Amino acid sequence: MAYELSAENQQRVKEVAARYPHNMSAILPALHIVFAERGWIDREACDHVAELLDVPPIHVYEAMTFYTYFPRKPVGKYHIQLCHNIACNLRGAENLIEYMRDKHGIEEDRVTGDGLFCLHRVECLGACGGAPMMQVNDDYYENLSPEKIEELIEGWKREAGNGRR
Ligand code: FES
Repeated sequence: MAYELSAENQQRVKEVAARYPHNMSAILPALHIVFAERGWIDREACDHVAELLDVPPIHVYEAMTFYTYFPRKPVGKYHIQLCHNIACNLRGAENLIEYMRDKHGIEEDRVTGDGLFCLHRVECLGACGGAPMMQVNDDYYENLSPEKIEELIEGWKREAGNGRR
């Protein structure tokens, strides 16, 4: 069955669209609503947004693929986006990627077997002063080291075990 937002969120999309003179302007807010409900966005979800907003699907695909913010496949409960651009790279981003893989089995572009983590390498997230850094879900973590990563990952594992987040 094709993907559809919940009835409540379909209504939210319509309310958001009503704020703009043209429905095209509501494409990004609508994608955020899909992302918040589902955690990722594929072509089916784009088609659904296009249908709700009555806009050509190509405009939704264009918006969706322009930004790296929206994952196109299911992600872990903790979606790790580690910056590997110049400042972060010079300050050890590669070591951190290796550390997560070797110590915790967190491989790039894959969700761990327990569904908790997935790691994506991303371009500059605009926090170069805190390099190396990563974004996990909506939060930034800066001045990272293997020790800090260890503390964070163990904390998230405990948190997940407690059923929180
Ligand atoms: S280079 Fe990593 S945040 Fe800018």
